[in-house]
Amino acid sequence: MTNGQGVIVLGAGPAGLVSANILNDAGVDCVVLERSTREHVRTRARAGYLAPNTVRILERHGLAEGVRRRGRTHGVCEFRTETTRFRLEYEGLGAREPHTVYPQQDLVADLLARYVERGGRIVFGVEAQAVLGADGPRPEVLAHDPDGAPVRWSARYIAGCDGRHGAARRSIPAGAVRRHRMDHGVSWLGLLAEAPPSLDAVGYAVHGRGFAGHMARSADVTRYYLQCERGAGPDAWSEEQVWQELSVRLGADRFGALRRGPIVQRAVVDLESDVLEPLRYGSLLLAGDAASLISPSAAKGANLAVLEAELLAEAFIAELVHGDSEPLERYSHRCLERIWRAQEFSGWMVRLLHGTGGFDNTHGFDHADNFDNALRHSRLESLRTSRSHQDWFAENYVGV
Ligand code: APR
Repeated sequence: MTNGQGVIVLGAGPAGLVSANILNDAGVDCVVLERSTREHVRTRARAGYLAPNTVRILERHGLAEGVRRRGRTHGVCEFRTETTRFRLEYEGLGAREPHTVYPQQDLVADLLARYVERGGRIVFGVEAQAVLGADGPRPEVLAHDPDGAPVRWSARYIAGCDGRHGAARRSIPAGAVRRHRMDHGVSWLGLLAEAPPSLDAVGYAVHGRGFAGHMARSADVTRYYLQCERGAGPDAWSEEQVWQELSVRLGADRFGALRRGPIVQRAVVDLESDVLEPLRYGSLLLAGDAASLISPSAAKGANLAVLEAELLAEAFIAELVHGDSEPLERYSHRCLERIWRAQEFSGWMVRLLHGTGGFDNTHGFDHADNFDNALRHSRLESLRTSRSHQDWFAENYVGV
């Protein structure tokens, strides 16, 4: 129900809302369709580390007020092993810039508020079932409205920003795009604790019992990750066992006790990556998790989503406002270059942080002193001692 000339944006995550804000500001007729409620979208805890380039994109479009006001810069990570730890102050290295820690749900709330304030149209509770006719100039979204009644929306273009399980991906006929997929063979139990951060750095523990991660979210909320057995449910460990396991892997007895608090969210993620190529099927263009899924090991997901959303919105504006179709034709290629760079680094992080071979919740790795384990420690040692390796790390860690 745009006038048929504009854009339907599927999904009100970072990708959809950045695109919609830019389109709306340029006067392009656009509507966002979101399956969840407004409240759910504004409060869903996800990622939180914004790269400097992401902040610049948000600034360029007047979307960074909250990030600037409430975000905290962060430029240190700490690697821990069973014998040692070292800090990498990446802000001063190759990247020369820090991350900004800002919970993704706060960013989404800001983007939503600004979009609506400026007259942007969004409908909640509408779940797209399929995109039809994307191989022609009048694509349609087949959806159910909040009362469950079928509705159809049509536009000139559809921005598929509805994540990995959304309708956009599903609607592309088999064989029309390639899906490159990688299962890293590793699972993480993601935990959100109502507890202050335990260290003033992102913590990565490489341990025979498995990987553990620590990431600050705010003064009183911290995200932790524990490598867990594939197929184990989120409740396989009790709350006490979770803190125990985190303490062992993060070396709390040597490096300082963890600041505990209630675990308010748990979910198991199987570390998987995929990339669709091209990110376009006719009038349907993909951005964010709908375009490419990236393992959370290097916190690249939200940053890629924002970067792609800007490129996509600007390409739509070039076409719909200025009659220039070239940016839209180049959209997929321009994104894929950056996506593969990010995938390469995330894959490198996965291999740095996890051993190979059998792993279970009770024993950790079944052979903690194998060849692969020695290689990982050698890689960490190189990162600890080599300035050029540190520069390379910093450049990739902070950049997209
Ligand atoms: N119809 C309408 N909306 C849908 C549908 C559908 N069929 N399916 C999903 N959605 C909505 C979801 O409810 C969600 O609000 O699409 C939105 C997708 O948002 P995200 O999952 O946040 O994806 P994206 O904007 O691409 O941002 C990627 O989010 O998953 C994290 O770590 C990831 O940080 C990365 C970022």
